Amino acid sequence: MIDQAYALRNLVKDKANYDDDCLVRQTPYTVAITSGKGGVGKTSLAVNLAITIAGMRGGARLIDADFGLSNADVLLSVTPRYTLEDVALGRVAPADAWTQYSNGLKLISSGSGLDSMANIDGVTSVELMKAMLDSASGGDIVIIDTAPGIDDSVINLLSHANEVLIVTTPEPTSITDSYASIKVLTQANPDSQITLVSNCCANPSQAGAVANGLDVICRRFLGRSFQRHEYIPYDSAVGRGIVAQKPFITQYSHTPAASWLRKLAIKLTERERQWQSSRTIEALVEA
Ligand SMILES: Nc1ncnc2c1ncn2[C@@H]1O[C@H](COP(=O)(O)OP(=O)(O)OP(=O)(O)O)[C@@H](O)[C@H]1O
Ligand SMILES: [Mg+2]
Repeated sequence: MIDQAYALRNLVKDKANYDDDCLVRQTPYTVAITSGKGGVGKTSLAVNLAITIAGMRGGARLIDADFGLSNADVLLSVTPRYTLEDVALGRVAPADAWTQYSNGLKLISSGSGLDSMANIDGVTSVELMKAMLDSASGGDIVIIDTAPGIDDSVINLLSHANEVLIVTTPEPTSITDSYASIKVLTQANPDSQITLVSNCCANPSQAGAVANGLDVICRRFLGRSFQRHEYIPYDSAVGRGIVAQKPFITQYSHTPAASWLRKLAIKLTERERQWQSSRTIEALVEA
């Protein structure tokens, strides 16, 4: 078994770089970040995760798909030349629309205060994402920050992602809104892979209580729950990073939030690796 897997991997390695003879073309692994309630830490998580993943493996992209109210660029203190609106209107090709942030990270934002973006429908938002993903490199991990809530434009995006991180805080309003997101997403895509991220918790046991409570409700009323649970502590470094427009993962890298976020980044990259290799093996078996 091990030998066979080894041989398959080597065969794939030989066929890498996506020439037309390649049995399976790598596609980017997409991680969409959302929440039921607003202001729970999605953008902060998205930006810092993207930077961490880029630093760990290169090949990370960040798409700020909080249509109409994008602010990832503000957190990173960059002024992108193009936005998703430029792509949607054909002013720039998707591949040329990315802004280079660091060696391994490129980003695109949907802009802020743009009517056309704020009112984008679910179908167009997905088409736009597909165009951007096509222009990314096959082995990239793409982090997509979304608006909160259960609008079509959000849920459609989520239902096409490889995995969805639903961010909640311990507040009851945030937990009940997370349930609403899980419910609507499950209706749109029963196979969606959901990770609950309990953010701003005092300690792991508070995060555990949040997850258990939500899990019970999801199982009872939806007949399913989220697949995984992650924890990010409340940490003043997160807010300080935002005020300074310097991501806490680089500016305050020894803080508790940074340490838990790195653990999450490692798990995401591992899942991406497994997903890419299972796709490859499937294609080889079918060939
Ligand atoms: N782990 C944390 N510890 C302390 N504060 C946090 C943490 N995570 C987020 N925050 C704070 O929460 C606030 C909202 O963060 P952020 O903008 O990332 O949320 P959001 O979910 O993207 O909001 P929106 O729904 O408006 O897009 C910020 O002030 C940020 O400093
Ligand atoms: Mg946000």
